[in-house]
Amino acid sequence: MQELFYLEKRLRRYNASPLPFQGQKRYFIKQFIDVLNEFPYNGTYVDLFGGSGLLSHTIKRKYPESRVIFNDFDNFSERIKNIKNTNFLLNKIREIIPTNLKEKSPLSENHKDNIIEVIKNYEGYIDVKTVSKSLFYGGTYAENIDDIFNYKTFYNCIKKTDYNADEYLNGIEIVSKDYRELIEDFSDFQNIIFVYDPPYLTTNSESYNSVFHWKLNDYLDIVDSLKNKTKFIYFTSHKGGLLELLEWMDEKYKIENPLKNTKKVSVKTSAINSVYTDFMFYKHK
Ligand SMILES: C[S@@+](CC[C@H](N)C(=O)[O-])C[C@H]1O[C@@H](n2cnc3c(N)ncnc32)[C@H](O)[C@@H]1O
Repeated sequence: MQELFYLEKRLRRYNASPLPFQGQKRYFIKQFIDVLNEFPYNGTYVDLFGGSGLLSHTIKRKYPESRVIFNDFDNFSERIKNIKNTNFLLNKIREIIPTNLKEKSPLSENHKDNIIEVIKNYEGYIDVKTVSKSLFYGGTYAENIDDIFNYKTFYNCIKKTDYNADEYLNGIEIVSKDYRELIEDFSDFQNIIFVYDPPYLTTNSESYNSVFHWKLNDYLDIVDSLKNKTKFIYFTSHKGGLLELLEWMDEKYKIENPLKNTKKVSVKTSAINSVYTDFMFYKHK
């Protein structure tokens, strides 16, 4: 075990997703690592809403002996696999942007046309999210390649150096399925911990690979699935009124709130023009 620990210690640990990913839990990583202290080092962790895989990665680094399943619903691992292509394309785009142009400044029409030409002629894999994040204003993303071509003005938001994701998904099992199916697959396992980080109620879920829009009943389904779990970590926010609804149902109609006997950690985050609170509820026995 000591040897394993030694080997794992040398692996790089990421505090944020190595590629842009909207909704990644980077603001929660410190608290998440602390909370993991209350969970088993050798459990089976199922990251039901894996997104960028940041929570899976964090668990595997903290507990190398655990089994970690990353539900890669958005095919993020494909983006990781193609990181060399992405760096190659971004280097071609960098060559077009004048070196003296300030960060986040708009690009001229001429430069925009040249960039579009480069993208159109590129025959390799195109990571639409990373490319659009490099050219769009205010950290927004495109859904598809046409969104990039149709974007009004490009901005100089390109990262100065190459992206790197070495060892990021080492030792992690990757699956891609609806979270309900995954719960079914693992429901009979011992020492199992489900990690829930669903799209938020007020999130624009179009930026995820969702086949439907997340509505209140979808959230209630998730909360409902918590009630018979002995160990879980569940992320949510104060937006959307879900927490108030659960408390109200409990008080008024005696419908037990599955979050009632859990522990809670909160983190304040800020977005453009707003500050909001995110929560991590957890139960470990
Ligand atoms: C808030 S993000 C998770 C972020 C992730 N924890 C991270 O740190 O990067 C929610 C994720 O749930 C995924 N998702 C949407 N519908 C899903 C479903 N039915 N089953 C599993 N995952 C789903 C979204 O595509 C998105 O990647």
